[in-house]
Amino acid sequence: MDNIYLSKKAKILGIRKHTPTEWSFNLGVRTEAVPGQFVMVSLPGAGEVPISISGYNANSIELTIRNVGKVTSHISKINQGDYLYVRGPYGNGFPLQEFVGKHLLIIAGGSAIAPVKPLIEHYINNSQFQVDGMDIIAGFRSPRHILFHDELKQWKKKCEVRITVDRDEDYAWMGSIGFVVDYIKEVQNISEDTRAIIIGPPLMMTNSVRELFQHGVKKENIYLSFERHMKCGTGKCGHCRIRDKYVCLDGPVFNYDEVKELID
Ligand SMILES: Cc1cc2nc3c(=O)[nH]c(=O)nc-3n(C[C@H](O)[C@H](O)[C@H](O)COP(=O)(O)OP(=O)(O)OC[C@H]3O[C@@H](n4cnc5c(N)ncnc54)[C@H](O)[C@@H]3O)c2cc1C
Ligand code: FES
Repeated sequence: MDNIYLSKKAKILGIRKHTPTEWSFNLGVRTEAVPGQFVMVSLPGAGEVPISISGYNANSIELTIRNVGKVTSHISKINQGDYLYVRGPYGNGFPLQEFVGKHLLIIAGGSAIAPVKPLIEHYINNSQFQVDGMDIIAGFRSPRHILFHDELKQWKKKCEVRITVDRDEDYAWMGSIGFVVDYIKEVQNISEDTRAIIIGPPLMMTNSVRELFQHGVKKENIYLSFERHMKCGTGKCGHCRIRDKYVCLDGPVFNYDEVKELID
C-alpha cells in the first residue's frame, strides 16, 4: 500500500516571477489532479505548506506561491534545478461535470486566481467540456500585484475577463479601479442558473455572495474555496476543521449551502 505521507522529490524546472512576493514554480512531477485540488509542499529544514495546483502538464505541475512567512519565504529563495518535496493531490477540487452547459462566473481576489487557473484552462482548452459562456472577474491590490498577465490576455480571446485593482499608486493604470464585487453588475447573462465560484479573502467572498443574491443566483449554485491552516492534509490532525467540516477532505471547495453559517 502507498504511504500517503511519503513525498515525491520534484525538480524545479522553471520559475516565473509575477510580483515581488509571488512566483510560479514548474515542478517535474507527474500528478493526476482535478482543478481546485492542492498538494502539501515541503522544503527540508523549513517545513510543509498546502499549495493549490495552478497548472498541469504531462510531466509537471505548476505551483504559485506567495511569500507570507516561515516556509514560503524559504521556498521563495530556491532556484531552477533545486528540489521541493510534494505529496498529494488532496481535497475535492471543483465539480467539473456540474458546470458543463452552464454559464460560469468566476470571481477571484489577488493570488486566488492561481487555484482557478486550471479550472478556466480546463474549459478554454477542451472544447468537449462546453460551458454556456464564462465570465471572470479578477481583482488585485494594485497594477503591480497582477498575476498571470499572459494567461489573462489569452483568456480574453475566449471569454469575458474583467480585471480591476483596488488602487493605482502609480496613476498609470488605464483599466478598472474598485473591488470585484462592484463589477458583478456588469456581467450580462447572469441568471439564477449561473454557477458562481468565489475565491479570495473572507470579506470579499461574503460581499460577493450578497451581490450574487441581488442578481438572483441561487445559493446552491454558488461555490467557495477555503484556505485554513493545515498539517496532515488527510483528515487526521484536525487542524483544518471548521465545525464538522475538514477543509482538507471535504473541501477546499464547498457549496455555499454547506458552509453558509461559516461565512455569514
Ligand atoms: C487548500 C489551500 C490551498 C492553498 N493554496 C495556496 C497557493 O496556491 N499559493 C499560496 O501562496 N498559498 C496557498 N495557501 C496558503 C499557504 O498554505 C500559506 O500561505 C502557508 O501555509 C503559509 O506558511 P508560512 O510558513 O510561509 O507562513 P507562516 O509563518 O505559517 O504564517 C505567516 C502568516 O500567514 C498566515 N497563514 C498561514 N497559513 C495560512 C492559511 N492557510 N490561511 C490563511 N493565513 C495563513 C499566518 O497566520 C501568519 O499571519 C493555501 C492554503 C490552503 C489551505
Ligand atoms: S489538515 Fe489535518 S485534518 Fe485537515
